[in-house]
Amino acid sequence: MSSPVPITTDIAEAAAALAAGLLVAIPTETVYGLAAVATDPDAVRRIFAAKGRPVDHPLIVHLADGADLHDWSPDVPKCALVLAEAFWPGPLTVVITRNDRIGPEVTGGLDTVAVRVPGHPVALELLDALGAPLAAPSANRFGKVSPTSARDVAEAFGPEVALVLDGGPCSVGVESTIVDCTTDLPMILRHGAVTVDHLEEALSAPVLAEHDGQRRAPGMLSSHYAPECALELIADPAQARLRVSELARQGRRVGLLDPDVDVVGWAHHLYRWLRESSARVDVLVVVPPPPVGLGLAVNDRLAKAAAPRS
Ligand code: TXA
Ligand code: MG
Repeated sequence: MSSPVPITTDIAEAAAALAAGLLVAIPTETVYGLAAVATDPDAVRRIFAAKGRPVDHPLIVHLADGADLHDWSPDVPKCALVLAEAFWPGPLTVVITRNDRIGPEVTGGLDTVAVRVPGHPVALELLDALGAPLAAPSANRFGKVSPTSARDVAEAFGPEVALVLDGGPCSVGVESTIVDCTTDLPMILRHGAVTVDHLEEALSAPVLAEHDGQRRAPGMLSSHYAPECALELIADPAQARLRVSELARQGRRVGLLDPDVDVVGWAHHLYRWLRESSARVDVLVVVPPPPVGLGLAVNDRLAKAAAPRS
């Protein structure tokens, strides 16, 4: 096991490390991100190496201010402007056409770029201090559970990550909603805390939800967010309990996840629950929350965590 990464709360120290081309894990309201200056191609390549992430899986670019959107795109669609105004800073990412100030190493060679303004005061202060955009995927190793605390990140990486900037536990707990604004009708590529209803209300228009995430959002694999234990999703609580007994009789170390919380609580705790179960059980039986609103995002992450792994 490699040595844990230093954790700091010093924003100036984090900004200096980033400016020097190093990788720094940063807090956001969704999950921790593994950041590099988005306009530094060598630093961006180091993100892919550190995560073990295929280079054609595009990264999200984080900005300090939504007004800067025009600096990175030749033609910002109205839909993106409306959503930026309604939800930034916050857990929403928009996909727009990129200009050549954002290199292909950030976007996996695509001519579009995913952008968001994170709703975390420490991230915003860091972006301000740095004066440059940050490319940042979730700060987990490829395919593993996303991190929602500084310690989660420090334990997963070694010296390839210079620092973890500690901003406390992430309030939302699951990744941002991604909306493709380059299509005729805006299309949700990934569900998150900004829900279909929120989007349609802001736009006063319908949005589509993509079923084949692979096509427009490269990197959305069917297996993702995977804990070390196996996951079984069973909607009916009584059936789930029967299955727990059955597995226990077979001598498996088994856990039941059927918490008495609303979908906000589910999202907030989900990755910590998966992480903790990894160490304790062989199989985690899960009764998922209703698949509406933020529950769609939780169900999406659970389905991917439960999917067969290659
Ligand atoms: O909440 C979040 O969005 C977190 C925090 C750190 O900001 N970041 C995050 O990044 O979840 P990541 O790399 O784990 O997921 C980003 C996803 C990619 O898997 C890809 O599917 C999609 O965003 N994406 C990025 N650029 C895209 C583009 N140009 N077109 C379509 N999808 C894109
Ligand atoms: Mg991720």
